[in-house]
Amino acid sequence: MDLAARLIRWQQRHGRHDLPWQNTRDAYRIWLSEIMLQQTQVATVIPYFQRFIERFPDVFALAAASQHEVMALWSGLGYYSRARNLHRCAQQIVTDYHGIFPSDPALLASLPGIGRSTSAAIAVFSAGARAAILDGNVKRVLCRAFGIDGYPGEKTIETALWQRAETLLPKKNIEAYTQGLMDLGATVCTRSKPDCPACPLAAQCIALATGRVAELPQRKPRKETPEKQVTMLLVLDNHQVLLLRRPEYGIWGGLWSLPEMETDDPAAVEQMATAFGQVASCQPLPSFSHAFTHFRLRISPWLLRLERRATLATQQEMVWHDLARLDDAPLPAPVRKLLQEFKPDRGAAPAPARAR
Ligand code: ADE
Repeated sequence: MDLAARLIRWQQRHGRHDLPWQNTRDAYRIWLSEIMLQQTQVATVIPYFQRFIERFPDVFALAAASQHEVMALWSGLGYYSRARNLHRCAQQIVTDYHGIFPSDPALLASLPGIGRSTSAAIAVFSAGARAAILDGNVKRVLCRAFGIDGYPGEKTIETALWQRAETLLPKKNIEAYTQGLMDLGATVCTRSKPDCPACPLAAQCIALATGRVAELPQRKPRKETPEKQVTMLLVLDNHQVLLLRRPEYGIWGGLWSLPEMETDDPAAVEQMATAFGQVASCQPLPSFSHAFTHFRLRISPWLLRLERRATLATQQEMVWHDLARLDDAPLPAPVRKLLQEFKPDRGAAPAPARAR
């Protein structure tokens, strides 16, 4: 039996069949799931997927939403360019394709946020197209099965892997084959604890036969991850916190976050604090680290309570946001976590209604 036949048989018996984006040809659901599943595990994606589908049942609803609302629903899932591209892609599907996703992988790959592998996955699951996927998990499976040396992110290795992936495609059962590759990579041929006795490819796996499972695929030649530092000002006026909209591009693009300073020199922070109004207290909070793909961000928060807020003139959009309504705000995960601690107590008396 060839690799594809083994994989198809294994997927039918042992693969995943009941994920919320399976058992449908609805390209909208399939596309949404594939974008969410980029660099993110199934268990993390499921509740986000369900909330998105409930709020935006079709591509028209998503295209018509505000970017603010899309970002708020995405908040916590990370890699926010995915959410911005998702929204743009939905709008393009509506304006250029009458709301119907194309089934040609080449057309799909011309849309925002859809690369070669994702376009193939969407075309396979929504239209049964015969197209090859090659995400991180699949690269691992192929590097091991065929004993491929070298770092798979490197161009020449990646080209060789794409060629393999294309050659392996079966003539029928492309959906079970594609899902099988994904499932095998996610549940059996895992990075650090592969379950080789359970693997349908064990009999033909070069890495297993040569005792190289642990060393394949080869890792990226290592560079130190740099650390950046930022001071964040948690400016509170009673039960409201000051939020600024971050620039569209760069980290957390389009999300709402706290005012920042590059220095955490106490004198500089105290000096800055006076710009926000009459200061009741100004104190440092414990600093913590947040990991991004290419660097770590050391966040040094300062708590600044105001007696009276000033009228602020900033380049960025700003709002005073109720601490009781944090769930509505599209915040970066570490900022949300930081602010949780300052939420007014549940059960405390509600703030008095505003006079008209
Ligand atoms: N990872 C990427 N796409 C997936 C899918 N359709 N099912 C499970 N895991 C995936």
